[in-house]
Amino acid sequence: MELNRIVFIGRTFEEYMAMFSLSMDELQGKKVLDCPAGACSFTAAGGQQGLDITACDIAYCHEGEALAAKGKLDVKHAMESVEQAREQYVWDYFRSVADLAEHRTRALSDCAAHMAAHPERYVPAVLPKLPFQDGEFDLILSAHFLFTYSDRLDKRFHLQVIEELLRVAKEEIRIFPLVSLAGNRYEHLEEIINILHERGCETEEIRVPYEFQRNAHSMLKIRKNRPSIV
Ligand SMILES: C[S@@+](CC[C@H](N)C(=O)[O-])C[C@H]1O[C@@H](n2cnc3c(N)ncnc32)[C@H](O)[C@@H]1O
Repeated sequence: MELNRIVFIGRTFEEYMAMFSLSMDELQGKKVLDCPAGACSFTAAGGQQGLDITACDIAYCHEGEALAAKGKLDVKHAMESVEQAREQYVWDYFRSVADLAEHRTRALSDCAAHMAAHPERYVPAVLPKLPFQDGEFDLILSAHFLFTYSDRLDKRFHLQVIEELLRVAKEEIRIFPLVSLAGNRYEHLEEIINILHERGCETEEIRVPYEFQRNAHSMLKIRKNRPSIV
């Protein structure tokens, strides 16, 4: 994918902890994948605290400095868009657009610095395929991709990605949020949950202490009881 078609934006470690309702105890000693991770600082900040986190994204096909420069422009454009549509967001976690910009800029710079120092932690991957072994990660986190972009990613693609995440997961997958960009619950979510149950997985929908996009306040936890959904 060309660099100008990539929007390189990400959330902070603290946002991930809140949106996935995670504690350090749950992460310690686990092999964790952030997929797709974009410009998030979850891998960077987690690594600095001794956690074993790997990030993957289609964007990592590009060189780190180019991504960091693109990310700065993307943060600026994103802030302009948010400013125009302030009422579509819940201003609890962030106090203002300036506060949001500070978080996004910090996530980007922490991610870029960590990527330069530890390139092996940032793996290029083009979903619905992942370049990892079966059961390689204890826990996989997936934020702002599945369900969010349901206007352009169809149900088949969602199922293929979830199947691939299950292949690579040993224990558990968490997906946040459960709504589209328009704030509506993903229309095929019940069907996907039923398929997961039929394949022997356990699911739980959990309200989390993080809501910025209105209605984006819950995650889906999938416990894998069988090796694959296929
Ligand atoms: C909105 S960002 C979310 C990043 C991060 N998880 C977060 O919550 O901030 C979506 C990411 O999906 C990546 N992406 C889009 N299509 C992809 C694909 N087919 N395979 C892998 N990554 C993809 C983009 O490069 C982008 O970084």
